[in-house]
Amino acid sequence: MPTSTSVPLPDHVPAELVRPFPYILGEKTAKDPYSFVPDIHREPPVFWAERVVNGVSGAWVPRRDQDIRALFHDVEHFSNRGLAPFAELLGESWELVPAMYDPPRQGDYRRLLNPLFTPAKMALLEDKIRAYARDLALALRDRGGCDFMRDFAFEFPIRVFLELMGLPQDKVGQFLEWEHGLLHEPDLEKIKQATRNVNAYLWDECEDRRVNPRDDLLTFAVRDAAVNGEPFTADEITGFCFNLFIGGLDTVSTSMGLQFRHLAEHPDHQATLRANPDMIPDAIEELLRAYSPILNRRLCIKDKTLHGATIRAGDMVMVPTFLANRDPEAYSRPDEVILDRKPKHLTFATGPHLCLGIHLARRELRIAMEEFLAHIPEFGIAPGAVIETYLQGTISPVAVPLVWRA
Ligand code: HEM
Repeated sequence: MPTSTSVPLPDHVPAELVRPFPYILGEKTAKDPYSFVPDIHREPPVFWAERVVNGVSGAWVPRRDQDIRALFHDVEHFSNRGLAPFAELLGESWELVPAMYDPPRQGDYRRLLNPLFTPAKMALLEDKIRAYARDLALALRDRGGCDFMRDFAFEFPIRVFLELMGLPQDKVGQFLEWEHGLLHEPDLEKIKQATRNVNAYLWDECEDRRVNPRDDLLTFAVRDAAVNGEPFTADEITGFCFNLFIGGLDTVSTSMGLQFRHLAEHPDHQATLRANPDMIPDAIEELLRAYSPILNRRLCIKDKTLHGATIRAGDMVMVPTFLANRDPEAYSRPDEVILDRKPKHLTFATGPHLCLGIHLARRELRIAMEEFLAHIPEFGIAPGAVIETYLQGTISPVAVPLVWRA
């Protein structure tokens, strides 16, 4: 949690490698949240940022595409263990499954889970996802404006998540509350309470699926999921459900918020996509590149030298995909959105932890854009509005006030 004090510089970190880095828990900006990136790309290839971990301790920050790409693959030196201490907060023992496991064990879980999230499996959700997006857009059309975050971006992925898990749609309000308690509250007690509530609810639903199996992911978790012949333990069931909750909601909401802000501020791009909806899938990839929302991290578990800096076992390393994606050595005009660029971006990571929900996320983002553009006339940012953005674990707009002619 944010405090005003920061941890002293470790002995092995040279003072000349300490650099400013604004993406810190508790910080917000009224500027374009990516406007700091070009300056960061004038810094050394890896530097030390103070207070970047939970607003308290420092960490290494590599900034180049090729180094961050390599880091995602380097499981000999970098680990995911213990990086999301939700269970620790509660004095419990579960871990996010599979996010907090390292290979080779993590691979056993991915072999089990990947078949559930293939493009073909996600295509089965197409009509439902489209109906949720359309209903939300149609409900807004005559209002002439909305806060895109509150009125669309948060609710839409929750509806998709409920569908995927086999949970009732009338829980959407409850899930909105839990998600905000967990991810948008600086108060530790609220985070704990929200974590407890989500898990208690999901656990009750899992218990129900043991006796009333259905074709949903909760039933899979309690009846079919087994690794090396061993059915999922209670901790694994909790960790799996919670990983989907934490991985699949805020990431999508935030990406949509950043992307729709871009369209509102770039009427030429909006017009191009309205006239050519078949360009939307490529546009989404370019927008994902330019507006990568997550600040991942890794724990160094074996000393590693990178561009002359010694990263010691025990050091935290940030994995800022938004820096990699705007690296001038990897992309020409990196800060410009070129709708048909077709970038090989790192927004969904690469290597063993490549996002499990990548095909679902792409589908959600595409459908949301298709339906919103189909049903809402040309929109812009509300006159005089100042958009504030959190610069913490996810680069996330607080609100995106849009207006259009009703
Ligand atoms: C735009 C939306 C999304 C973005 C930007 C995103 C990004 C990422 C990234 C960067 C990772 C790797 C993290 C790391 O290596 O530390 C990841 C992992 C993961 N994501 Fe996503 N994600 C998105 C949507 C989703 C959705 C919709 C789901 C759920 C269905 C999901 C489930 C997961 C899971 C379970 C993992 C852990 C995979 C593993 O460790 O093997 N994500 N995601």
